Amino acid sequence: MDIDPQRMTAGFVGTGTITEAVVTGLCKTRFAQMPIVLSPRSQSIAARLAGANANVSIAADSQDVLDRAGLVFIAVRPQIVEEVVTALRFRPDHHVISFVAATPLERLQAWIGQPVRLSQAVPLPFVADLQGATAIYPPDAVSDALFSALGTAIQVESKREYDLLAAGSAMMGSYFGIMDTVAGWLQGQGLSREAADLYVRQLFSGLDHAARLRPAASFAELVDDHSTKGGLNEQVLADFRAAGGGAALQGALDRVLARIRPEESDRS
Ligand SMILES: NC(=O)c1ccc[n+]([C@@H]2O[C@H](COP(=O)([O-])OP(=O)(O)OC[C@H]3O[C@@H](n4cnc5c(N)ncnc54)[C@H](OP(=O)(O)O)[C@@H]3O)[C@@H](O)[C@H]2O)c1
Repeated sequence: MDIDPQRMTAGFVGTGTITEAVVTGLCKTRFAQMPIVLSPRSQSIAARLAGANANVSIAADSQDVLDRAGLVFIAVRPQIVEEVVTALRFRPDHHVISFVAATPLERLQAWIGQPVRLSQAVPLPFVADLQGATAIYPPDAVSDALFSALGTAIQVESKREYDLLAAGSAMMGSYFGIMDTVAGWLQGQGLSREAADLYVRQLFSGLDHAARLRPAASFAELVDDHSTKGGLNEQVLADFRAAGGGAALQGALDRVLARIRPEESDRS
């Protein structure tokens, strides 16, 4: 969809980590001239973004964001979203995109109290550098255009698919946790931490590059291509799986999904 950034004002209710990443990214794209209005909290982030970008301004409060913007992003924490949203007066013509985890659209719609156009998205911090994937549900042309500019937008038709992508995003800490374990082991064996960190960073960055170069290859093919028969890589993966590593990861993802979709675990 062709969206004219000049004809749209985007407002953010909640100016924290994820708003900072999204606004920083947008200001590097064709949406760089789009007027953006931020709620004043966090004050330091709002001031930083407004200071760095001429198209970004700070509203008097969250209601002022809604009064000035047509496209409204909700980016406060789940614990306070009901209190924040129910205190605001939305217009029926508002287009609302929620970043808030664990808050179904039906609940948000009820708190908003107007028949606004509403969808959800899970941008990740790397959108600041126009990297990574953003899950969107339900499909929304404006959200797709914005998040495609910020990296890769993945639109899904069902809430369950969206929840599955959110569960997958819970792997971020473990990714770095694996790097930390490997670097820690190398250091424990006598390598300097500096050399260990540098080596592990570059190893994973090379693997990321290899995966990007071959988007059509399955992960199983990539495993094969990076594991000589009878070699060391094959041995580590086999040991990891035999010791329950794969099952532990799947179990952890099951537990994440149960938190995201308690209705499914209640049924089983
Ligand atoms: N971080 C991520 O990677 C990520 C990814 C996808 C989705 N999300 C979702 O995005 C939402 C925001 O996450 P975040 O990581 O950006 O959280 P965050 O850094 O804690 O940001 C939330 C912001 O809301 C502000 N705030 C608090 N009370 C407010 C109020 N009454 N009105 C307006 N703003 C208020 C806070 O300001 P003060 O600091 O002044 O209290 C803070 O700046 C969450 O629902 C989260 O689930 C996050």
